[in-house]
Amino acid sequence: MRPVARTLDEATQAPADGFLADVLEGLSRPAKRLPSKYFYDARGSRLFEAICDTPEYYLTRAEIEILGDHAMEMAAAVGPRRIIVEYGSGASIKTRLLLDHLDASAYVPVDVSRGPLLAASAAIARDYPKLKVQPLHADFTRPFSLPLGALGRSLVYFPGSTIGNFEPHDATALLRQIARAPGCDGALIGIDLVKSRQVLEAAYNDRDLVTAAFNLNLLHRINGELDGEFQPGRFSHRAVFNEAASRIEMHLVSKIDQVVGVGGRSFSFRAGESILTELSHKYTLDGFSDMSSSAGLTLTQAWTDDAARFAVVHLVRRAA
Ligand code: TRP
Repeated sequence: MRPVARTLDEATQAPADGFLADVLEGLSRPAKRLPSKYFYDARGSRLFEAICDTPEYYLTRAEIEILGDHAMEMAAAVGPRRIIVEYGSGASIKTRLLLDHLDASAYVPVDVSRGPLLAASAAIARDYPKLKVQPLHADFTRPFSLPLGALGRSLVYFPGSTIGNFEPHDATALLRQIARAPGCDGALIGIDLVKSRQVLEAAYNDRDLVTAAFNLNLLHRINGELDGEFQPGRFSHRAVFNEAASRIEMHLVSKIDQVVGVGGRSFSFRAGESILTELSHKYTLDGFSDMSSSAGLTLTQAWTDDAARFAVVHLVRRAA
């Protein structure tokens, strides 16, 4: 097997150091929050893959259908010799469908979770022997520099409606950062579309409770890595569609009054009090186009699955 290039670390933003600070800050707020980027340790990544296999979670299947049907058109829209910069650790079937069709000079997955990033990169390097694979261990919400400037222009690939996991203000900032990244042409972004409450809430409340286990894994991770004393059985998973904000809101709800220690501090919870752990925005194509436009990007093309549940959009830097 061909070895993958060594992972590059963005030294100024070692993600692990931020975990404790982020957790303490989030639990100190009047309305408690935990940042969702910490879901994806090795166990969390496995649980997320299991979510994608549940009958209720349609997003991944819809996005794969889109790539299967339209990857050639996407390749034509994007153009040749691109460095593909994937936000998230990749190696999914979606990444492969894209790499199979695009004329890519290099592939750079960017992720805060080192283990899943390395595993994914090794798998891609093995299966695409001609592709230069260069994992980057970094937080893609902060500006980072590409190690491969000389290899050509880059395209951001941001699948999975992960952009929907950011508040509109932060999602716009992320799009603006893409628009301004040196050498970057544009992006292919997967977004989930607005649909009925019933379908949306079922997707985040699967019957086998895989999503519940994924949500609760955050507490296990805090226990394991930050000296947390959560008893995960004392919290329950809840996901509801907030129609006014057009987003699923995912919570961990305290079943009882309790006090929990984390990193030498203690936090009290009332029965019924919740920790907000995730937002998942659902867009209309017009709404997403407007948001992109305010960030300096033009939505030039959109592909959807047959049932129009999900879309992959091509954004290009707006001509100055
Ligand atoms: N971005 C996906 C979504 O919003 C994946 C995701 C993030 C997710 N957090 C999740 C899926 C929690 C299920 C549960 O759907």
